[in-house]
Amino acid sequence: MKKSWWNGKVAYQIYPKSFCDSNGDGIGDLRGVLSKLDYLKDLGVDIIWLSPVYQSPFVDQGYDISDYYRIAEEFGTMEDFDLLLAEAGRRGMSIVMDLVVNHCSDQHEWFQKALADPEGEYAGYFYFRRGRDGQPPSNYRSYFGGSTWSPVPGTDLYYLHMFAPEQPDLNWENPVVRRKIYDMVNWWLDKGVAGFRIDAIINIKKNLDFPSFEPDGPDGLAACTNMVESAHGIGEFLQELKRETFAKHDAFTVGEVFNMKEDELAAFIGDEGHFSTMFDFSAQALTFGGHGWYDAPTIQFDAWREALFNAQREAQGVGFLANIIENHDEPRGASRFLPPYAQNETGKKLLATTSLLLRGISFLYQGQEIGMTNCRMTDISQYEDINTIDQYQVALRAGCTEAEALEACYLNSRDNARTPMQWSGAANGGFTTGTPWLVVNPNYREINAAEQAGRPDSLLNYYKRLIALRKSDAYADTFIYGGFVPAYETEPDILAYLRKGQEQTILVAGNYGETARTLTLDGPAEQVLLTNTGREAELLAQARDEGRITLESCESAVILLWIQ
Ligand code: GLC
Ligand code: CA
Repeated sequence: MKKSWWNGKVAYQIYPKSFCDSNGDGIGDLRGVLSKLDYLKDLGVDIIWLSPVYQSPFVDQGYDISDYYRIAEEFGTMEDFDLLLAEAGRRGMSIVMDLVVNHCSDQHEWFQKALADPEGEYAGYFYFRRGRDGQPPSNYRSYFGGSTWSPVPGTDLYYLHMFAPEQPDLNWENPVVRRKIYDMVNWWLDKGVAGFRIDAIINIKKNLDFPSFEPDGPDGLAACTNMVESAHGIGEFLQELKRETFAKHDAFTVGEVFNMKEDELAAFIGDEGHFSTMFDFSAQALTFGGHGWYDAPTIQFDAWREALFNAQREAQGVGFLANIIENHDEPRGASRFLPPYAQNETGKKLLATTSLLLRGISFLYQGQEIGMTNCRMTDISQYEDINTIDQYQVALRAGCTEAEALEACYLNSRDNARTPMQWSGAANGGFTTGTPWLVVNPNYREINAAEQAGRPDSLLNYYKRLIALRKSDAYADTFIYGGFVPAYETEPDILAYLRKGQEQTILVAGNYGETARTLTLDGPAEQVLLTNTGREAELLAQARDEGRITLESCESAVILLWIQ
């Protein structure tokens, strides 16, 4: 496999609205991000991915862009952005933008012009279609509920939106649209951004017949993913995008890819792939409900381990996956993946260890490094997320009580990840001096960055050590390029694997169970590189004396097995 500059980088996702507010208006902003660059550098971050900071009406929190060349005024100015870029660069960090080009905002000038002249040139930037028998062209349910087709006022036309009605889909079949997108991407790359995280990208290729599918819900609609899965040829668009933009700049790109077809992994992340990497969502996919959040299954350890291992095995020899515990669309990983007895700092360190040392590009999401958790709301009105509000209604319509619907949101809501970053024990967790735009999780008094920075055995300091180990001169090559071999796969509650480098084998082992477990090592232990319990010396002694290690409940260990 080809080597690239980004292979060993650690990335950190910032959700700007909730990261740090510099001017007391309750909304995080670019000056706030700027003020935390040293914090990120100290943590060991190389790449900062900013969720969208472009001008937007914020119907979907910035994933509805009304001008790709402007910074949202809520977040600051282009001068602030340029300063952030320069200051990150000065510290040896890169900025990656969010590229949202499946759709734009209905307030974007293109869509406004299309509405003004529905038979004109700009209508061709979107999917305007005539209805069938007084009905929309097809029966798709959008990702956020309701039909994907909304009427074009004053006509018998409908326009397509896979997400909210305020997010009309851009017509990638139109070469003029593609050219304008490429020009915009190059404009940002010329400015010096290192690359892009590419939003909802699988949706850009439509089945232009727009066939209807068998309804799969009480609303009489069928999931719009049926149409996406029936479309073919996305690779042509993505290769052109790469050729015209990313490749010229040696950019780093990470795709948000769901519903990929089988056997397409190499096309997406192989040496000549569309992207540098793409997120491994196999764990998240285990929690997809059959009908919505109200019937979403909870994580079962065995299925989770199997999904992770399968993804690792498939990517090996093909390319790198990007590994996450959580992001802005998911509940907090500590609340999702850890059983109740593990929902503490030791458990969170365990989760960090087994995730960050996987083969692939490590992504952290803001607040993960201090162990932020889901936030219990007492009323649906406290949520801001469009998806959450829809899913609450879906649950009620399915017969759930209000309490049950709220519980489904507590477990699954995207707002769990969007509550403001907990910087300190001061009012509003130190996020703002004003009124925060979204509830601050009241547990900021116990869980916050300032407290953890001052405590050597904190989760934050553990993350620093873990990242430093991953990037250390002695072991980076193994953690980056070494193979992935599952270990102790039939051992209950154990998530373990070997990372096999040219000259080293490193065992990463974690005990997710409630009781201690003993593992027989299949080679002499050279060194215990890290534990989440401070028991490095004890485990090394046991390994040398007995050829085994006993991991306590929620304990993890990283062990250098032998030097070949
Ligand atoms: C992606 C984003 C999500 C957004 C959606 C529509 O899934 O991560 O936050 O709502 O695309 O742009
Ligand atoms: Ca602000």
